[in-house]
Amino acid sequence: MYPLFQWHGVGNGMLMAIIATYHILPCHLATGAFWITFFMERKAYQENDMDMLEFLKKYSLLVLIFCFVTGSLTGAGIWYAATVISPRAISGLIHNYVWGWATEWVFFLIEIVTIYTYYYTFEKISPKAHMRIGLIYAMSAWLSMVIITGILGFMLTPGKWSQTGAFFDGFFNPSYWPQLFVRTAFMFVVGASYAAIVASFIKNPNVKEKTMKVAAKWGIGGLIVGGLFTIWYFAKIPATAKSIVFNDLGFTQTLFKVAIVAGVLLFIYFAVWGFKKAKTAGPIPAIIAMLILFVGICAGETIREMARRPYLIPNYMLSNQMIDHDMKMKGVTNEVAKFNKEGVLKSYYFAPDSVKKIDQTNFMAAGRILTKLQCISCHTLEKSGFFSVPRLMVKFGASSPEEVYDFLDALDDYSYMPPFVGTEAEKRATAAYIASLVNPDKKADPAWVMAAK
Ligand code: HEC
Repeated sequence: MYPLFQWHGVGNGMLMAIIATYHILPCHLATGAFWITFFMERKAYQENDMDMLEFLKKYSLLVLIFCFVTGSLTGAGIWYAATVISPRAISGLIHNYVWGWATEWVFFLIEIVTIYTYYYTFEKISPKAHMRIGLIYAMSAWLSMVIITGILGFMLTPGKWSQTGAFFDGFFNPSYWPQLFVRTAFMFVVGASYAAIVASFIKNPNVKEKTMKVAAKWGIGGLIVGGLFTIWYFAKIPATAKSIVFNDLGFTQTLFKVAIVAGVLLFIYFAVWGFKKAKTAGPIPAIIAMLILFVGICAGETIREMARRPYLIPNYMLSNQMIDHDMKMKGVTNEVAKFNKEGVLKSYYFAPDSVKKIDQTNFMAAGRILTKLQCISCHTLEKSGFFSVPRLMVKFGASSPEEVYDFLDALDDYSYMPPFVGTEAEKRATAAYIASLVNPDKKADPAWVMAAK
């Protein structure tokens, strides 16, 4: 275990969510956009419509700037944030998928080279060569998605990897194909929404109409196909994950409805502004459509993240970074069983020696470390924070150390939270500390903590 990172009030989960959901926009635009540009450029040359090139230049410049500045920053941001929040999970992923990432970065490098070449060679080289560069970009961008989806899918449905530990067993996991097709369909929706924004600023009504129509067709197609693949995706994820999303948690059910409403509104936008009002389509509806798309993405990605609770890597590593399964071929043994017997703090290198054995004087300090270790990956500890432990505890009806203890003792009844890990004394010390967050004036009775067997 490593030292802990804690973003007070906002929470570690929220930090990941903010960076990662934003990243979805530039990264799916980067993968989807150039299939649309390739199609439009070919059409422009076939119909000898040089005005269309005006749109293509603006669009590809926007993709270049938006994706390769904010996309790259947030992409690196995900690595930094995930590394400080869950270093062991990143270590687990690196140990299994370093060659996957290395391969992805090769395609990423091709993307960077080809998009610059594409933009700066507009009308300077033959149309055939120019379109070919665009196609190389489109393919390498999509291939980077083909690779990263294997690793993303592994983090929800590791499949046979849990027994074999083999690279391709985790990569081609049960949710790999549906997730790849869902992302492929929705990357066209993102590309089309951006195309609609760029088209809405174009003055020439003929170019505007033509590009709005193309955007609407890709957008509507992506929404319909993406919707169908989403049903397939949900059929492939484990029953426990489905039950968390559709039964156990209230807010994911709301988010699911939000995602559906966002999809319907986008469909209406493309149908109306893409066909009926294509000649006069202005930027305001296009920007609103993009915001709706963003809300839909936030909802969808949050649901996907929630579905893998209480794990970072199912059947391997819990959200608190503790390993709860044996994996012989990797030389890994179940730590939870060991910690329940010997105590967590004894094995936690970064806990001061003074708390390794719980006594009457140190139990609050020990409880504080244990609470952080086991709760801050999903909760904050401040009353005013997001997903606040003291606030949720009050809502649940537990405020005394004894009541909090009963809650911790029954944590494994929840499908989306890991069980409490540690000895009886550690559980009591944690309960005493959490009760002090709910009710700072009331002190826990040291004798009660020490009564643990
Ligand atoms: C893997 C993520 C995760 C971890 C780790 C986690 N929780 Fe939770 N917890 C959740 C989620 C998600 C909810 C549901 C929140 C909601 O419905 O608003 C929740 C709900 C709760 C509730 C309200 C329960 C109820 O029935 O109303 C309490 C209290 C709580 N958590 C305390 C804790 C404590 C204490 C810890 C550390 C020992 C902890 N949680 C660890 C994810 C987690």
